[in-house]
This record gives sequence, structure tokens and C-alpha cells, in this order.
Amino acid sequence: MSFPISRFRRLRKNEAIRKMVAETRIGIDDFIVPIFIMEGRDQKDPIRSMPGYYRFTRDLAVKEAGKLYHQGIKSVLLFVKVPDAKKDNTGREALNPRGLMPATVSDIKNALPELCVMTDVALDPYSSYGHDGIVRKKEILNDPTVKVLAEMSLVHAAAGADFVAPSDMMDGRVLKIREALEQNAFYNTGIMSYSAKYSSCFYGPFRDVLDSAPAFGDKKTYQMDFANSREAIREALSDQEEGADIIMVKPALAYLDIISQIKQSVNVPLAAYNVSGEYAMVKAAAKKGWIDESRAIMEILTGIKRAGADLIATYFAYDFIRMTSG
Ligand code: PBG
Repeated sequence: MSFPISRFRRLRKNEAIRKMVAETRIGIDDFIVPIFIMEGRDQKDPIRSMPGYYRFTRDLAVKEAGKLYHQGIKSVLLFVKVPDAKKDNTGREALNPRGLMPATVSDIKNALPELCVMTDVALDPYSSYGHDGIVRKKEILNDPTVKVLAEMSLVHAAAGADFVAPSDMMDGRVLKIREALEQNAFYNTGIMSYSAKYSSCFYGPFRDVLDSAPAFGDKKTYQMDFANSREAIREALSDQEEGADIIMVKPALAYLDIISQIKQSVNVPLAAYNVSGEYAMVKAAAKKGWIDESRAIMEILTGIKRAGADLIATYFAYDFIRMTSG
């Protein structure tokens, strides 16, 4: 069918028609909301490079989770800021059953049993080197790290986490985590694996939040090279085989092709992480009056979903709620 039988503009004539034929819809069910937690009581610290975002003490994090839940959010993803005194090379504090993460998980699950609580599993917030694994002579060791990640996952599962989310990019960790969970009867604890996590400058603000920037070198021996896409498919397929329940691509915006390709390759739900630097760019440009913030956010979230993401971990959930409620 060609012109004039077909005129594309008929379907763009007005808002009602455009809405009717929209191929992609985003809604509150799509979001996973990151929450940053710190020690202490009754305090919330604004994050300089992430305007509108805060670190919460455990008591306030529970309240925050409650607010989000009552606004319709289904899932939160927890990250903890660990004081320097509790950091070492082996991530010992990560295995503390009374540590900040398990304590917060059980508080949130007690208060909000229906909210899906996901936990970050990686050593960097606990590492004196700021790396996602145990370090020996400047090398990030794979297999010894995987052992700790599996134990850490058990601590989170025991506290009531619905999903553990390994963000470390060590090889083989999904299988070892799945085996550990099964052996300890955590049959229904899911794994959301950061399968294609790229070595990216867009994590900058996040590393400030958790004070987790690497003390030496970079993360290129474990996070992926942004030049590669076939490798991302291999990562995703192997995580699916190892037992990942949800697969994630991270960051999102410079990686929409990866989201789209992985969507064609795996059968499990696909998440995308719209990371801190992607948030900061929009906030900064909007503050300068160089971009319309609300429209930018809607366009970005819709684009990520259109590319194939079933779920979006995003700091923009708050803005979305503000824009769409009343
Ligand atoms: C580390 C981790 C990072 C993020 C989530 N988990 C940073 C990194 O790999 O250095 C980044 C999230 C963001 O930038 O929003 N395990």
C-alpha cells in the first residue's frame, strides 16, 4: 500500500488516536527502584550528583519503601554504604547476618511483605579496594570471589530477599549462587543477574553515593568492553543456563541495541538498568534549562522499553510518579 492509499499521518491526527496506536506503554509496574542505605538513624543525605536522590538510614529506608509501595511500585533494589572501618579485601562484612543489608531487608519485608525486595550482590561496597572481587597482587580473583558471593546471597535470602542481584560480573557466579540457594532450601529466592554489564563512565555518580570507586585500576577485567555485542549475548545465554530468573543489561541508553538483541536471544524476563550517570545528565541539563526534564524522562523510559526491556531499574521512578499522579 502506498500513498495516497496509505497516509501515515492519519494515525497521528490527534492525541486520542496517537494514544490508541501507541506500541509501547510504560507504567508503574515496569520499575525497579534503587534505594541507598547508610548506617545511623533518622537521617537522609542528599546526593550531590543525583539531585532529588538520597541515602537513607535503615529506619527511613523502610519508610521510603512504604511510600513507594503505596504509590504502586512493586520492587526495590537495595544498595548499602559501608563505613571504611568495615571494609577489607575479602568482604567479611558482606557475610555479617546482622549487617546493614540483611537488617534492612528483614525490616522492609516485615513492614511490606508484598513488596519485591532485591539486593545488590557484589563486593565493591565492602572492599577496601573498591573492586567487585577479592584482590591479589592487583588481580581480581574470580573463583574465590564467587564463593563469597554465594554465601552473601544466602545471607540476603535468609533475611527474606525475594531476589538477589549479582552485579559483579565474575564468571560462573549465577550457577554457584543457584546451587547454594537450592542446597539451603531457598528454592523461591530468585536471581536477577547483571548479565551484560559494561565497563562504563556512567556509573560515576553511583560510586560517589557508596564511596566505592576502585582504589587502583578500573573494572575492565570483569565488566564488558562497550565495543562488544556478540559477547553480551553469550553472557546472557550462559546466565540463563546457569539459572538466572531475570537477566539485566546495564547501562541502558548507549546499549539499546544490546537490550534488543538479548531480548531476541533469551526467554527469561529482561531488565535494563538506567544508571546514575544517565540520571545525572538529564537532571543537569534540565537545571540549566537546556532540556525539558519531564519530556526527556518519558522519552528515555519509553525508548528503553521499546528496545525490549520488560523491567527498568531507574532513578526516574520518582519523577514518573510525580508526572503521572494527579
Ligand atoms: C557495583 C555496582 C555499580 C552499579 C550498580 N552496582 C557500579 C560499578 O560497577 O562500579 C552502578 C549503578 C549506577 O550507576 O546507577 N557492583
